[in-house]
Amino acid sequence: MSTKKKVLITGAAGFLGSHLCDRMIKEGYYVIAMDNLITGDLRNIEHLFKLPNFEFYHHDVTKYIHIPGELHYIMHFASPASPIDYLKIPIQTLKVSSLGTHNVLGLARAKKARIIVASTSEVYGDPLVHPQNEDYWGNVNPVGPRGCYDEAKRFQEAITMAYHNVHDVETRIVRIFNTYGPRMRLNDGRVLPTFIGQALRGEDLTAFGDGSQTRSFCYVDDLVEGIYRLLLSDHHLPVNCGNPTEITIKQFAEEIIKLVGTGTKVIFKPLPMDDPKQRQPDITKAREILKWEPKISRAEGLKITYEYFKSLPEYDMTFRKFGTQEDEIMKKAGY
Ligand SMILES: NC(=O)c1ccc[n+]([C@@H]2O[C@H](COP(=O)([O-])OP(=O)(O)OC[C@H]3O[C@@H](n4cnc5c(N)ncnc54)[C@H](O)[C@@H]3O)[C@@H](O)[C@H]2O)c1
Repeated sequence: MSTKKKVLITGAAGFLGSHLCDRMIKEGYYVIAMDNLITGDLRNIEHLFKLPNFEFYHHDVTKYIHIPGELHYIMHFASPASPIDYLKIPIQTLKVSSLGTHNVLGLARAKKARIIVASTSEVYGDPLVHPQNEDYWGNVNPVGPRGCYDEAKRFQEAITMAYHNVHDVETRIVRIFNTYGPRMRLNDGRVLPTFIGQALRGEDLTAFGDGSQTRSFCYVDDLVEGIYRLLLSDHHLPVNCGNPTEITIKQFAEEIIKLVGTGTKVIFKPLPMDDPKQRQPDITKAREILKWEPKISRAEGLKITYEYFKSLPEYDMTFRKFGTQEDEIMKKAGY
């Protein structure tokens, strides 16, 4: 019988989940990784399979979850996260943050485990205040194309608070802003892999609108540090984690072109429906409560990420998770 503290990580084969597995193994935990592989990839965690303190459950968290024995922590990160994914599989997206979160909260209650749930800056929608702090309630269109993700995450926060208030479950809520790094999928539709993929293929980079909309990008190691600190803190209300350094999409595209050095240019396409114009976290709370702030510069993080994408096999350049029927849904949403 292992004496290590046990943690269940859902969405473990995904981008963030796999980095959390690495971190929790490094911190000496026994990790149970769970994923149904709908957007994840086992290659992200295959290096952990040989370890005695790691096991993988191929399981859909919207179905009943059984974990034998003790469980000390749950990190609930299962959910499609890129617009391409959640626009293509909106029902699965709604289910994982509603039914799936209900299941993991029930498990946390039964096991007396502490649980952290992955929320998102998308709970702020297309924000009317800038930068966004945790007291802002958001500006979300529930019936727009992004509603399936944004509202599912808002429900996730609400049910997490209810389990805290009614059943005294130790809950933590992290509101994650755009994060990047190795193990993102090159074709997942998020702006950074899209730009790097286009530049690697020698194509022009497509920015939406006039490219003046802003984003801020946090390198994955910084985010993981923030999540780990929040898990171990005693703060149950939502905390923003992200990098407050803001950049326009046009400037960002130019940075990528310079990094990859393929001499391509930026071209512009109409802005998709409900695309947020500005996105920047106010991380005052994380600074105060967690003594956390991002340390890795964009230049440094981009270089590591670019090296990772360059090392991928040809197959990943063209790999598509979903088919033509889903492409039609995307087209209707203006993507
Ligand atoms: N990456 C970001 O910038 C970002 C920003 C905000 C919030 N988040 C949140 O962080 C979490 C992880 O995001 P990511 O970027 O790693 O996405 P990802 O798509 O790479 O990973 C999500 C993982 O969850 C798995 N999954 C989905 N539905 C499942 C289900 N029903 N049962 C079991 N597994 C399931 C997928 O197969 C995948 O491996 C998500 O909850 C997302 O909403 C991420």
